[in-house]
Parts: sequence; structure tokens; C-alpha cells
Amino acid sequence: MTIQKRLWISNLILILITVILLIGVSLAITENFRKFIGFPPYDEQRQPPVLNRTLLRLDRSIMKTAEAEPDQFLNNDYLKQIDDFLISSHTGLIVKKGDKIFYFSPFLAEIDTNNKHILQQQITKTIQKPDDDTIGITETLYMKTIPLTFSDDSEGILFLVNDTTAISQELKAFKNSVIYILILFLIIVISINTLITYFLSKQIVNPIIRLKNAAQQIQRGDYNFQLKAPTRDEIGALFQSFEEARKQLKKSEETQKKYEQNRNELITNISHDLKTPITTIKGYMEGIMDGVPQSKEKQDKYLQTIYQNVINMESLIEDLFLLSKFDLNQSFYQFEKVNIKDYLADCSEELQFDLQEKGIKLKYKANYDKQKLIRADRQQLKRVILNIINNAINYRKERDSQIEIILTELEQEALIEIRDNGRGISQNALENIFGRFYKEDKARSNHSPGSGLGLYIARKIILDHSGLIWARSEAGSGTSIFFTLKQVQAKDS
Ligand SMILES: Nc1ncnc2c1ncn2[C@@H]1O[C@H](COP(=O)(O)OP(=O)(O)O)[C@@H](O)[C@H]1O
Ligand SMILES: [Mg+2]
Repeated sequence: MTIQKRLWISNLILILITVILLIGVSLAITENFRKFIGFPPYDEQRQPPVLNRTLLRLDRSIMKTAEAEPDQFLNNDYLKQIDDFLISSHTGLIVKKGDKIFYFSPFLAEIDTNNKHILQQQITKTIQKPDDDTIGITETLYMKTIPLTFSDDSEGILFLVNDTTAISQELKAFKNSVIYILILFLIIVISINTLITYFLSKQIVNPIIRLKNAAQQIQRGDYNFQLKAPTRDEIGALFQSFEEARKQLKKSEETQKKYEQNRNELITNISHDLKTPITTIKGYMEGIMDGVPQSKEKQDKYLQTIYQNVINMESLIEDLFLLSKFDLNQSFYQFEKVNIKDYLADCSEELQFDLQEKGIKLKYKANYDKQKLIRADRQQLKRVILNIINNAINYRKERDSQIEIILTELEQEALIEIRDNGRGISQNALENIFGRFYKEDKARSNHSPGSGLGLYIARKIILDHSGLIWARSEAGSGTSIFFTLKQVQAKDS
């Protein structure tokens, strides 16, 4: 069942309960009112309380006169006076003297013929008897008799006859007004209830429908919309969470796209970088097979070129292998505490021989407290240094090449600078050199020994060591690559 249906059903139940309660209450009110007035039903035993009270009041003064001055009831002026007074209580007076009716109230002469007939019969058959209660003679006529004796010793009876038609009508009117009020009340209750249910359902169901549509849109892979919260309540919170989820999905989709684009670029670059040396190797080998280099010297040169290209390929493949490890995010680092001062001294010593052969001077300067260890993976740190030094070698000038390794102590870090006096990097290129496959001189890239991965890998390794790496360079006069490594704090050990 839908929420909307449920809301409407609960609304219906509420209205039904209200209707039943209201009908019950109004029935109870009318019943009590009826009992209070005292009729219907027509009942000889039970007297209508309202009627009884009216008659009782009149009857006292009339009884006094009947005892003290009975002949007054033969005086037409007096009779008219009393009758006029009684009419206001819907009551008429009848005076019977002996068997004859002496006075018959004009009010009673006007009542409906059927009742009048019964009344006349009743009056005729009534004989004098001690004071009795009011009796009902028809459904609407109630009668009280008062005996009296006139001055000529003849017996008489006074009849006070009350016509309740008017009160019945009042009761009916009252009943009708109760019904009107009831209907009005029901209309108000039903409309208020319906309105409330309508707005509630609008406020709850409509947002849910919007959410459903949004979810379907996402299912279709469309993330390009915005979901604004309609209210600040729980539904608003739900919208916000949904919106967050949508943003996340959109972002991850974009990341996915970028990743795929990166991968394509990577494959293109790799293919290109592998194809170049292979083509060279192929050409030179064909040359050898065709016997092009005739002298031993020429043959050696051919082989040397082939060998160099194989070495380049090998180093490219090694770099690629490392890259794939990064991408898989395998934590392959083996962190140790390293005495960086000694470590760099050893590195310089190892490099010294190779650099001397190429005519490059290497200097190592350290301004560092020997006791302050850093945390690093020795092997990967070596790769960083070699990648930077290799660049200094590859991009050096013809003569007087010099490389300096300078270690400086910072507050909680070791700062390492590797400075060369090579050809430098242009300002434009400076911010890109740490990018993947970036080579400054694309045109010459085929002949440049690197793959464009050296600094990218160095940066990745340094960042994984929680360090920073940056470059400073001036075209034509040299380059400095800086990186920092965190010192081991007392709490780390
Ligand atoms: N010491 C340097 N002197 C001059 N140019 C440099 C130096 N180091 C890096 N570069 C420039 O930055 C680019 C990126 O370096 P790297 O990532 O090591 O790639 P590769 O050496 O394979 O070209 C190089 O192609 C080069 O143009
Ligand atoms: Mg390089």
C-alpha cells in the first residue's frame, strides 16, 4: 500500500470516529433534553416535569381563589383575566358547574378537532374527586382538576388544560438545530481533515517521488542534476544525504574517466617509448647482418648503440614496473631509521667513480646533527637520488660539470638539495617536470635518455615518505632539486 493511500485511510478512520462520537453526543443531548421536558412518550404515570412545574405554580393561586371566593369563577371578567394569563403557558381554563360547562377557554376552542373531541368527552365524564395529579389525556393535552363548591352549594370543577404542541414544536426545532450543528460540524471536520491529509501527503509523498525519480536518473548514469531540499526537517536531511551521495558518485565517475584517460595516455607513451629503441636496435642489427659495418671499429660502434638502447629499455621497463606497483597502491616500502648524514656520504662515495669517469665533480656538504635519524626506505631513497643525479648528468653542459649534494638540518626534517650547473629548466617547464612522462624538449625526446618518469617516481616516493619535493632552476645556469625527509621523533621509536 502506498503512503498516500495509508494517509487517506487514516484520515477516513478519523472522520468516521468523529462522526460516530458526534452522533452519540448529540443523541445523548437530545435524549436528556427530552427527559428534562418530559415528553414524549405519553405516559399517565409520569408527569412531564416542565409542565408540572408550570401548572403547579398557577394552580396554587387558583386553588386559593377557589377556596376563598369560588364565585369569582362565575365572573366572566375574572375568568377572562385568568385565561389571558394562562395562555402564556399554553394553558386554557374550563369551568364546570354541576353538569354544565360554564366557561370554555377560547384558547382550547382553537386546538385540533380530534383533541378537542377527546377533551370534551373527558370533561363530561369527570366527576368531582379529591385533588389529583396532572394526567395526560392525549399525546399533547395534559389536564389538572381542582374541585370547588359555589356559594349556592352547587359543585364545580376547574380544569387547567395544557397544550404541549408548542413545546413539541420547540423540541423538534431543537432537534433540527442539533442536526444542523452536527452536519456543519461534520463538514468542518471533514474539510479540515482532508486539507491536513492533502498537505501532509503533499509534503511527504511528493518529496519521496522526487527522490525516486532522482534515484532512477542516477541508475541511468545521469549525475548532472541538483537536488534541493524542500524542507529543513528529516526529509530535508534525507535530500541532503542523497545530494551528497550524488556528488560523490559524480566525482568518482569523473575520477574513473580521468583514470581511464591517464591509462590510455600511459599506454600510448609506453608504446612509443618502447618502439623507438626497438626500431633503432632492429636497424642496427640489420646493418650488421647485411655486413654494413666492415671494420671491427664500426662493428663495435653498432653494438654499442644496440647495447645502449637495450639499457634504456631495461630502465624504462623497470620504471614502468615501479609505476604499476604505485598504482596498485601496494605498501612495498620497508621503512627503517636511517642516519641520513652517513647514508648520503656513502651514496656520494659510490657515485664518485662513475661521475669522475664522465668528468663531473661531485661534492657533498652536510650541516646536520649526526644523531638525528630519519625514517626512510633505503632502496627507494637511493632511487630518488639516482633519478635526480641522472638528470644532472643527462642535462649537463659540455664542460666543468659539477654536482653538489647539500644536507641541511631543519626543525623536524632533513633538507636535501641536489644542485647542478647544467642547462637548467625554463620557467614554463618547471611546474611540469614532476608530471608523468613529462620531458621538456619533446622534439628531442627521442634522443633524450630518459622516459619522463624519473622525477614523477622521485616525487611519488618522497610524498610516500611524508616529505616534500620541489625544484628551483634558471635556464642556462643550473638546477636545484630539493626534498625533505621527516626526522624520527622520540614518540615514533
Ligand atoms: N637537472 C636538470 N637540468 C635540466 N633539466 C632537467 C633536470 N632535471 C629534469 N629536467 C627536465 O625535466 C624533465 C623531466 O625529468 P625526468 O622526470 O627525470 O624525465 P627524463 O629525465 O626521463 O626526461 C626532463 O626531460 C628535463 O627536461
Ligand atoms: Mg630523468
